[in-house]
Amino acid sequence: MNATLEAMVPYDIRVIGDPVLSTRAKEVTDIDGTVAALVEDMFEVMYDAPGVGLAAPQVGVSRRIFVFDSDDRAGVLINPEIVESDGEWEFVEGCLSIPGLHWSVVRPRTVLLRGVDLDGNPVELEATDFEARIFQHELDHLDGVLLVERLTDEQRREAKRALRELALSASGPTPSAGLQLP
Ligand code: NI
Repeated sequence: MNATLEAMVPYDIRVIGDPVLSTRAKEVTDIDGTVAALVEDMFEVMYDAPGVGLAAPQVGVSRRIFVFDSDDRAGVLINPEIVESDGEWEFVEGCLSIPGLHWSVVRPRTVLLRGVDLDGNPVELEATDFEARIFQHELDHLDGVLLVERLTDEQRREAKRALRELALSASGPTPSAGLQLP
């Protein structure tokens, strides 16, 4: 295969305001070559960004798939669900779909996830702290929930201001009207 073509990723990371990010993604019913190719592209987009996790809706595909690389391990989870969560952990979280902004958010410290891998085999992943945070964040994306919806009222007020400024300073063909909070 042509290496140059292989290296070309046809996806842009969608940003806040794009409807695909606020839509619940559909279950994957058929894990075929299309899904495998998508996952490969998602890894590339994630590493290019660079990011530690990426959900399919972030590349405009409304399907329940995310990829991650927590440094400890990397992988893909299809149709994931959180079956157990425990504890509390505060961590400063960002999102590739809300570029440049970060907020301190409390979420469960430990999670147990179930899903399937690219071969359709069941997978169970237990994660703590940073990795658990990635999983919860990406799972939110699959439910159409963005980080801004996890903020306190005060953080959300600041976020609105920051996003307005971001919209005003945004250049390029994308209209800034998309950068609005509900
Ligand atoms: Ni995100």
